[in-house]
This record gives sequence, structure tokens and C-alpha cells, in this order.
Amino acid sequence: MAKHDHLEYEDAAQKKISSTPTLKGLAKIARDCRACDLWKRGTQVVFGEGEPNSTVMFVGEVPGDREDRAGKPFVGPAGNLLDKALAEAGIDRSKVYVTNAVKHFNWEPRGKRRIHKKPRTSEITACRPWLDAEIARLKPKVIVCLGATAAKVLLGPKFRVTQHRGEFIDSSLAPHVMATVHPSSILRAPDDDTRHLETQRFTDDLKKIAQLIPHDLADTKAPRPTSDAPKVSAVATENSLRGASAKSGAQVPATKTEPPPARHQRSPQG
Ligand code: URA
Ligand code: SF4
Repeated sequence: MAKHDHLEYEDAAQKKISSTPTLKGLAKIARDCRACDLWKRGTQVVFGEGEPNSTVMFVGEVPGDREDRAGKPFVGPAGNLLDKALAEAGIDRSKVYVTNAVKHFNWEPRGKRRIHKKPRTSEITACRPWLDAEIARLKPKVIVCLGATAAKVLLGPKFRVTQHRGEFIDSSLAPHVMATVHPSSILRAPDDDTRHLETQRFTDDLKKIAQLIPHDLADTKAPRPTSDAPKVSAVATENSLRGASAKSGAQVPATKTEPPPARHQRSPQG
């Protein structure tokens, strides 16, 4: 696409996103996204998934081979590890919303296998409006970044998961924001002992989330509203989309020692 066409495309795409009030609607229009070249590599878009009333959002990096085939996030080996750690922490996966910073699988061939390839900055930037729109529609109380890619996207390029994992970070994105390791990094541990230890640390981070809003996350079978109604005006959404990338900031945000009480109102960022 020529540069001019690209700008026109982006403008049109942005308008479509802004005028789509529900997560379901966003997932549908994302199928036609051509904002970067990854759509050509993947089988299908892998949009975020979960209850539209979820209070907690998990953000990974990019779908893998299994996710690409299934069209669902975190259903492969990393997803299995995430599911187990969530269960161990007392969090019902069906109560949370799970998504990725980039919505199309990126891979390179190795023999017959398709090997996950890290997304480029340009692809992460191109995909950002979808993530911003998901946050604006869901308005989660808690956002958990899984790994460095999600953490850098949402907390700024200087953020280091190695230094601040498991800490609650001041952010206008949600009342509580935390980054921890990506489950894939645990799967790559060099030996069983390390893997076991890292799984435990990961689970401990998730337990902090479970303590924050236990009733919202446990498998209590408590009745909850299920509508996918918009929770944010089109104007707020658009503002969030326009300003979010700039606001993600180059500074490492301040960390909080204690999780603050859950707030229900939203910041202007949506
Ligand atoms: N890794 C991710 O970051 N996301 C997925 O959906 C699967 C693996
Ligand atoms: Fe669009 Fe994101 Fe897919 Fe690129 S990776 S085509 S920006 S949905």
C-alpha cells in the first residue's frame, strides 16, 4: 500500500473502531484488519475473549500456532500453563478477559513447523488501536501484562518486567495494573526445578490479583449481568484511541507498595 492509501485506510479503520460499541462488534470488524502485513501470515485474527463484564484483563504478546488455528487466545501450551496458574490462584478463567498486544500470528518456517516470531514495533503500533478499544469497552478494574511486550505497550518502553514484576503500577489505564512474566518464558526454563519455581512465582503474582477482587474472580456462580452494552461514549473512546499511544509514556511509572482499594470510576483515558 502506498503511504497515502495507508493513511486513508487508518483513518477509515479508526472511524470504524470508534463507532463500534461492543467487544463482539470489535472482534468482528478486526477480521478485516489490514493495518499491518501480519494478516497475510496468519490463518485468522485472534481477538480477545472473555465475558464483556470481566473486571480483569490479561494481555499477552501475540497468538501462537495453536491460537492461530483455533482463533482463540491462549489455548496452546502457554495457555495451559496460564489456566493452571489461574486455577491455583483461585481465578476462574471464564471470569477474565484474555487478549494479546498483536492479534495475528507471526511465524517463520522451521522444517514443517511454524515457529513464533516476535512482532516488530511497527506491527505492535499498528495493532494498538484494537487493544485500546478493548480496554475502552471493557473498562477493567485490573490489567495484567503478561511479559515484556505487553508491559512495554501499556506501561512504556522503559518498563522492565524483571525489575517490577508483581508490583502494582500507577497507570491511567485501570485502577490496578500489574506486569508479570509471560507463561511461555516459564515453559522455556532450563530445568524442572527452575520451571517449578517460576510457576510458583507466577502463581503468587496472580494470587495478588485474586485478593484484590475475590468475589469478581472466584468460581462462585454468583449471578452477574451479562450484557455486552457499551460502557463508554464514542467521544471518550475516540479520545482514548487518539491519545493512548502518546500517553503510554517513556517514563517508568511509579510503583505502589500496596494495592489501592478498587475504584469504579474511570480516568478520562477511558
Ligand atoms: N502467547 C501469547 O502471547 N498469546 C497467546 O495467545 C498465546 C501464546
Ligand atoms: Fe491488524 Fe493487528 Fe492483524 Fe496487523 S496484527 S493486520 S494490525 S489485527
